Amino acid sequence: MGFNLLARPYHFLEKVVFANRLQRARCAHMEIFLEAEQILLLGEGDGRFLEALLKQGCRAEIICYDLSTAMLDLARKRVAGKADKVHFLNGDIHQLSLPLEFQPDVIGAHFFLDCFRENELVDISRRIQGVSRPGCKMVVTDFQLPSGSWFVRSGGRVLICLMLLFFRIFAGITARKVTDWHGLLTDQGWQCRKKSMSDQGLIGSWVMERPVTKGLDRCHPVATI
Ligand SMILES: C[S@@+](CC[C@H](N)C(=O)[O-])C[C@H]1O[C@@H](n2cnc3c(N)ncnc32)[C@H](O)[C@@H]1O
Repeated sequence: MGFNLLARPYHFLEKVVFANRLQRARCAHMEIFLEAEQILLLGEGDGRFLEALLKQGCRAEIICYDLSTAMLDLARKRVAGKADKVHFLNGDIHQLSLPLEFQPDVIGAHFFLDCFRENELVDISRRIQGVSRPGCKMVVTDFQLPSGSWFVRSGGRVLICLMLLFFRIFAGITARKVTDWHGLLTDQGWQCRKKSMSDQGLIGSWVMERPVTKGLDRCHPVATI
């Protein structure tokens, strides 16, 4: 199982529940992407962020990396004719491998890390460190439990639980609860440089920066594009 079944209705379902709010969150730190030379979009899905990025005039080389071939097909079609520097790579983040000459300085992970359990995220963040440049920035957009009144917190909790349940049933995600990816990345030396929150803290976008450490050279196999 995976996101193939949901690829087509995904946009519609999102619109019904959130209108344009998730897309606004994805694009909250667009300036970081526009400064990049090589961008890795993890679990990019149906390509709406990619399309917005290209519309803004992004000239970077981009790899869209996704496990779902149906999602990749939609993304490819969405930007057809406008994406001469975009490559679509089908693969599992648990085996993330990139071409040797591709070392992203910016990574986008929109509504992606929350698909996994914390023990998986430890491995995933190591893999990301293994393929990215020192000082690389990662823009993570995700849900989190909102703060505020009891009513807001309970409403947020219920909504997130329902979404996790839905994606567990229809896409087979492994996450059972909101994972503390932020704590996990900061434990590994990543620093939060910026954040922007909306919907009373339910939706957020964070700019994380990878530590400039020696000894974190490529440690994973390479792929060809
Ligand atoms: C919740 S959707 C998010 C899609 C899009 N980024 C967005 O902002 O809506 C998660 C995406 O991650 C992809 N994905 C899930 N598990 C993956 C894995 N193990 N490796 C690579 N991609 C994966 C799915 O195919 C899907 O496109």
